[in-house]
Amino acid sequence: MSEPIKLVAFCGSLRQASFNKMALNAFIERVPAGTSVQTIDIDWPLYNADIQAKGFPDKVQAAQKALLEADGLVLASPEYNYGPSGVLKNAIDWLSRMTPQPFAGKPIAIFGAAGGVLGTARAQYQLRQIMVFLDGRPVNKPEVMIGGAQNRFVDGKLTDEASGKLLADLGTSLLLAVRQSKASAHVK
Ligand SMILES: Cc1cc2nc3c(=O)[nH]c(=O)nc-3n(C[C@H](O)[C@H](O)[C@H](O)COP(=O)(O)O)c2cc1C
Repeated sequence: MSEPIKLVAFCGSLRQASFNKMALNAFIERVPAGTSVQTIDIDWPLYNADIQAKGFPDKVQAAQKALLEADGLVLASPEYNYGPSGVLKNAIDWLSRMTPQPFAGKPIAIFGAAGGVLGTARAQYQLRQIMVFLDGRPVNKPEVMIGGAQNRFVDGKLTDEASGKLLADLGTSLLLAVRQSKASAHVK
């Protein structure tokens, strides 16, 4: 039996009926057996170095701890004006100022759902670029860009089989990256 895998997930939309929350739930339903996913709320204050100087907010500290203890990260983001949502960027900015910086070396699955046909493609590439600086390890394939989201969910559930298969494959790909990362940590 292999060890259980712990993932942490952030959703970049705060909206109650968010398609990205629904897509994240669909991802969680499809993760391989033996995997747990803890979704962390990122409705945090806006990053402000003056707040940081007085101490990181409790929620940010708790997220850093969870992320440091996790084997991998899942990011579900809407696309706002061709970029990731401010909510998600704000969470990344807060965590990026912490020591240890919790994205470093972390396998990451990125996906998103949007009304537009490109399904958050541009936002996802910006997230990948941000993760270069933070030394995160986004898995390359499959890319999961759920366009025309209003036609792919019914009553909060993903009904589009092709997207469901891609999310399942992304979960498998993330686990493979986690196992490779753990294996290389043993030989260091
Ligand atoms: C400020 C704002 C900017 C948006 N920009 C884009 C965009 O660049 N590309 C796109 O496909 N959809 C865009 N949309 C539409 C979102 O894809 C749509 O609102 C989506 O449902 C948001 O994700 P959510 O359902 O998880 O909240 C934008 C929406 C908002 C509110």
